[in-house]
Amino acid sequence: MTEAKQKTVLLGICGGIAAYKMCDVARQLVRGGYRVKVVMTKHAQEFVGAATFRSLTGNPVATQLFDDPHAPINHISLAQEADVFLIAPATANIIAKLAQGRAGDLLTTTALAYQGPLLVAPAMNTQMYLDPATQTNMALLQARGVEIIGPASGELACGISGAGRMVAVADLRTAVEESVQTSTSLAGTTVLISAGPTQEYFDPVRYLTNRSSGKMGLALARAALRRGAKVVLVLGPVTEAVPVNNRLQRIDVVSTEDMRAAMLQAAPDADLILCAAAVADYKPSETSLAKIKKYSLSASAPEGDAPQRVSIDFSFNPDILAELGQLKAKGVLKDGMTLVGFAAETDNLDKNVQKKLASKGADFIVANDVSRADIGFESDENEARIFSQQGMDELLPKASKIQVAQQILDLVCSSSA
Ligand code: PMT
Repeated sequence: MTEAKQKTVLLGICGGIAAYKMCDVARQLVRGGYRVKVVMTKHAQEFVGAATFRSLTGNPVATQLFDDPHAPINHISLAQEADVFLIAPATANIIAKLAQGRAGDLLTTTALAYQGPLLVAPAMNTQMYLDPATQTNMALLQARGVEIIGPASGELACGISGAGRMVAVADLRTAVEESVQTSTSLAGTTVLISAGPTQEYFDPVRYLTNRSSGKMGLALARAALRRGAKVVLVLGPVTEAVPVNNRLQRIDVVSTEDMRAAMLQAAPDADLILCAAAVADYKPSETSLAKIKKYSLSASAPEGDAPQRVSIDFSFNPDILAELGQLKAKGVLKDGMTLVGFAAETDNLDKNVQKKLASKGADFIVANDVSRADIGFESDENEARIFSQQGMDELLPKASKIQVAQQILDLVCSSSA
C-alpha cells in the first residue's frame, strides 16, 4: 500500500440534498485505498441513511455524541484518527457553528477537537450563500486555515439557478487527495515566494495597481508547505486567505520598493525563489502627501474652459526578479539556489518568454496567458507553460492553481536536483 492509501478520511455529512452525492465520494475514496469514516448530522439522515455509508465504507457511521457506552469517546477518537476532515455538503448552519466554535453535536464537537486539514464544501440556496452572515463566517474560517471548496453555480434544488451548488464529486475527491499528499521532499529548505499585486500611490487615496489576487502565489506557498518547506511569503495587498502555519513567515508589502526590500532581505537564505507577484513596472514620479485636487494634474485649458485631460508622470520601478538574477549570477545567493519567474502575457508569448529568460537571469519562467478570463488573474484555475534555460518547454494543462503549483514544484525540483 502507498502512503496515501493508508490515510483516514473523515466525512462530515450535513442535511442538504447534495448528501446523496457523498455516497459517490465515499465509494471513490474507498476505491482509492483510503480508510473512510463518516459522521452524519441528524438532518443528513433525512436525506441518506447511515446504513448506506456503513455499507459503502465498511465502517460504523457515527451519528451521536454517545453512540456506544463502551467505545472510546467518539468525537475525540474520530478527530485523532483523521488525516483529513471533509464537511460536505456544508449548510449555512454548520458554517455558522464552525465559525463560532460551537460544539452542540457530534459533527461540530469533532470539528472543534480536530487539528488537521479541514475542508468545507458549502451547498445551499444562493441567497443564503450570498448573505453577509454566511460570507463573513466563511471568511473567518478561511482566515483560520480552513479550505473552502466551491460552491459551484448552476441549477439548485430550490429551483433557481445561481451560486450554491456543491462542487462535483471529482473535485471533492481531488481536494481530499491533495490535502493528504504531504511529503518531506522540501523539508529543511526555505522557499521564498512573492505574490499578489503591488500598489503605487500618487496621493494618500489613489494608486496604480493590477488585477492580481495573489491566488497563484498562495497556491505555491501551500504546495511548498505540504512538502515540508519553510516558506517566506512576501505578499502584496490581497483579500485572499493566507495559510496559517508555523513554517510560514508572512511579510505584507504595498509598493514595489517594499516588495524589493523584503525579497532582497530574504533571498540569501532561500533555496528556491518563486516570483509570482504582479509587480507594477511603473510608479508615479511624485507622491503627494495631500489628496490631489481635481484639476491640479490637468493639462492647461483656455481660460474659462474646464480641462479635459490630466497627466501623471511615471518612472520605472526596479525589476526585482532581474536583480535577484544578477545576485545569483554573482554567486551572492545560496549555492544551487533555483530562481523561478513568471510571465504574464497577452500576446507573442514565446518571443516574450525567451526575452525574459535571457534578461532576468531566472532558471525557469512560468508563462500564463492573462488575456483569458478563465485562467491567470483572479481565476481559481491556471494553465501555463514552463520554460527553462536548458530548453524545457512543458505545458501545465488547465487545472486548479494548487494543482498547477504542485506541477511547477515537481518540475522545478526534479530539474534542479
Ligand atoms: O495573483 P493571481 O490573480 O492568482 O494571478 C496570477 C498571476 C497572473 C499574477 C501570475 O500567474 C503571474 O503571471 N505573475 C507574474 C505577473 C507579472 O508581473 O508578469 P511580468 O511578465 O510583468 O513580469 C515577469 C516577472 O518579473 C514576474 O516574475 C514578476 O514578478 C517579475 N517582475 C516584474 C516587474 C518588476 N518590476 N519586478 C519584477 O520582479
